[in-house]
Amino acid sequence: MRTSLINSLLFTLMLFLIPLQLQAKDMVVKAPPESLGKYYPPESKEPKWIQQMHKMSGNLGGVFVNLREKDWDNLDKNADQFVESYKEASEMVPEWEEYFDLKAAKEFAAAAKTHDGEKIGKAVGAVGKTCGKCHADNSISVWTRFHWPSFHKIKITDPIEEKELDFGKYMGLLSGTFKGVTVNFKEGQYDRSQKALRAFKSRFMELKSTCSKCHTTDDVKLFYVGENVAQAFDGLQKELTAEKPNPGNFWKNVGILGKQGCKNCHLTHRSYAMIQERWEEK
Ligand code: HEC
Ligand code: HEC
Ligand code: HEC
Repeated sequence: MRTSLINSLLFTLMLFLIPLQLQAKDMVVKAPPESLGKYYPPESKEPKWIQQMHKMSGNLGGVFVNLREKDWDNLDKNADQFVESYKEASEMVPEWEEYFDLKAAKEFAAAAKTHDGEKIGKAVGAVGKTCGKCHADNSISVWTRFHWPSFHKIKITDPIEEKELDFGKYMGLLSGTFKGVTVNFKEGQYDRSQKALRAFKSRFMELKSTCSKCHTTDDVKLFYVGENVAQAFDGLQKELTAEKPNPGNFWKNVGILGKQGCKNCHLTHRSYAMIQERWEEK
């Protein structure tokens, strides 16, 4: 009875331990802690977390700049200020307190004040690791939450039906219209394919109206919705109005649209939207 209980306990433990080990190299993109919001717009006017990072990083770098210059007064000053700014940072986000190692910071400052390059080099390793660990775990989360505007708030007016749609819904519509072009072509129904192409081009180019919701310069429109894509649309139009459409040319242009129009935009813009969507689900 007893041993079987212990065995089953052990078994349960193993079940928990095995996945933990398997996951050691997985990257988890958890939403950042709530309390970090205090240090970013809109809650705070200034991006205070980033400012604190620069302060800390400036003090740390200051030790090494002054070491090279043998400017011992300023080296000592930066060493002390580093401990201070590191401690300040450790108190800003309670959920992140564990990432900091105040002892290592103090030991680094003490080593710095010996003005011995070798000792300083050795002591910085332990502090540096605390920076690196937190950056590896949290940078993408923080960029996704505080630097990436949300596509989910963007609406776009469909030029065909003149209806306003959420961006994601519009994507579904766009994708369906694209298929109308390719499926009909495969079936040899070139008239239908051509009709779908007109709607598809107009829906695709309408995406241009969304860029300025996030971008302030027009030069970004050289990508995804630019000249290459416009030429691919012309190429498709040419095949579909030809006496005898050339499948090679048709599919080549479909490929350009799919890669340079859809895929390249997804690679830059959609990953973040996907992470945000997951966080919003909860
Ligand atoms: C508890 C987590 C954490 C620790 C510890 C930490 N950082 Fe950071 N750091 C961040 C996050 C999160 C960002 C990304 C901020 C952003 O882009 O909004 C960042 C960004 C930075 C940046 C870039 C700022 C910018 O302008 O994009 C620098 C420089 C930096 N950290 C230096 C350091 C140094 C040096 C240390 C160690 C002495 C350190 N950080 C320790 C979380 C941490
Ligand atoms: C402006 C950049 C951009 C371009 C160009 C673009 N997409 Fe998207 N697409 C996105 C983003 C961002 C999302 C995620 C939207 C969301 O999460 O609501 C998305 C989502 C999608 C989805 C999933 C829709 C859903 O239900 O969430 C499909 C399907 C799709 N795109 C197809 C396409 C096709 C096909 C093309 C080319 C004809 C294309 N997209 C061009 C940015 C783009
Ligand atoms: C929801 C906001 C949003 C929309 C809408 C959007 N983008 Fe972006 N895009 C970004 C962000 C954020 C970045 C990353 C760096 C930055 O801010 O420029 C980026 C990066 C880019 C880049 C890489 C070069 C760069 O400036 O960093 C290009 C090119 C680009 N976008 C083109 C477009 C085009 C073309 C459209 C419209 C069809 C578009 N974007 C629509 C948010 C958006």
